Amino acid sequence: MFNDFKLMDDRPVYIQVKDYLKRLIIKGALQANQRLPSTRELGMLLNVSRNTVISAYAELQEDGFAYTAQGKGSYVAAGSSSVTAPSSWQMDWKTRLNGHARLAEELDLMKRGIRADKGTISFTSIAPDEKLFDLDNFKRAFLDRMSVEGDVLLNYGYAKGYKPLIDYLLRYMDHKGVDLKGKDILITNGFTEGFDIVLSALSKKNGTVICENPTHHTAIKNLKLHGFDITGIPMERDGINLRELERALSEQAYDCAYFVPSYHNPTGIVMSPEKRIELMKLMTRHQIPVIEDGFNEELRYSGSHVSPLMATAGQGNGVIYLGSFSKVLFPGLRVGWVLADRELIYYLESIKRARTIHTSTIDQSILYQYLHNGNLEKYLKKARAEYKRKYEWTLQCCKEYIPYTQLSGDGGLHLFVAFGEGFHTRELLDACSRQGVIFTPGDIFFTDGKGQHTMRLGFSRVSDENISKGIRIIGETAKQLMG
Ligand SMILES: Cc1ncc(COP(=O)(O)O)c(C=O)c1O
Repeated sequence: MFNDFKLMDDRPVYIQVKDYLKRLIIKGALQANQRLPSTRELGMLLNVSRNTVISAYAELQEDGFAYTAQGKGSYVAAGSSSVTAPSSWQMDWKTRLNGHARLAEELDLMKRGIRADKGTISFTSIAPDEKLFDLDNFKRAFLDRMSVEGDVLLNYGYAKGYKPLIDYLLRYMDHKGVDLKGKDILITNGFTEGFDIVLSALSKKNGTVICENPTHHTAIKNLKLHGFDITGIPMERDGINLRELERALSEQAYDCAYFVPSYHNPTGIVMSPEKRIELMKLMTRHQIPVIEDGFNEELRYSGSHVSPLMATAGQGNGVIYLGSFSKVLFPGLRVGWVLADRELIYYLESIKRARTIHTSTIDQSILYQYLHNGNLEKYLKKARAEYKRKYEWTLQCCKEYIPYTQLSGDGGLHLFVAFGEGFHTRELLDACSRQGVIFTPGDIFFTDGKGQHTMRLGFSRVSDENISKGIRIIGETAKQLMG
């Protein structure tokens, strides 16, 4: 015994000795009331100082794993080893899973999606480029906030969110032209949790939702997990096809609508201001709550500012706006917000409290301080310039190499490519991945199983050199497959 002790990392040595002994006790290698070696003896056996062992024994005693007998030394406390049932119990968890868990696994692209080997040129990500993150300002924001109220921040916070951040976001939305009268904000773990909370709050009278087709895959996944039947309406160059939308609305009732009006994922299309007004008129006429996904609004490289649908709705309370800084700033923070009618937020707050109590106050407060210090504007300037450059480069490469029939993307971090009907981008993907290039096949974004002839190219994390190299390979391979 004691010959398998290894100092592993830079944790304090006495803690490593304590953890080692604790493990021997729990596993039953050291039995209840067994005498532990003297501190000198164990120090020699483990090749650590006697004082280290004294501290480890004191900690073991503190944790209830050992006791001392006056003048006799230290002993293992009774009942410290884990008790194993006579037959080790094996549960077949697959038979215990419900439909929700099975569907979540089935829709989990991370488990079923395309794997990138090292060195692969991957156009699958639309995450920001971490090389652009201004770590120094982020660290400063953390230290600034911790020095003001670190003790409070480490305690429980409020389900609705961190008040200074909520106030900041209210002003931020006000500047986007949203009429805040009668509205309030709930802070969530990104767009995704906000969407999940909203879907779980709305009544499912018809079990139906209407949205753009194609649309954000995570949204499709969550809508399916909430049991909604999804009707997708085709896209046009300036956003959703209103005639098709009107036709669908006249045929059936919908519980809610989900729209991504700016830098839509996956098409990258920005809905025109005229269309936004017509869309809101339709929604008002049919009394359909609108869930607006405003995730990418800041990544505008050209053209004029377009107001969110919520601003178009004026004092109306039918739009639920889901905001996120996941593309604009740091997705790792997992901070987003729901801006909606105050009474609705009152209920969403209770759902949030029941589910996760609140979003990490530390994360919210650092984000708040970062924003308060004026960093968003500075960072956006830098990030926009870099993404614009990459966007134009990707566009140019697509035009040069890819035999597409349609190419869209007005900004954001990706472009959407459509080939002629009958062309299969999954086949293209197979052939390209053998040459070290991958992208996202477009069918995953379609609500009706279509889109086999489309693909999304995320460029934010690909170098200029790899953008041209990868797109050339995709283009040449596509031409070969077309014969
Ligand atoms: C359409 C859309 N909405 C929202 C988000 C951001 O989600 P989250 O804030 O949960 O990271 C994304 C990220 O890719 C997206 O594509």
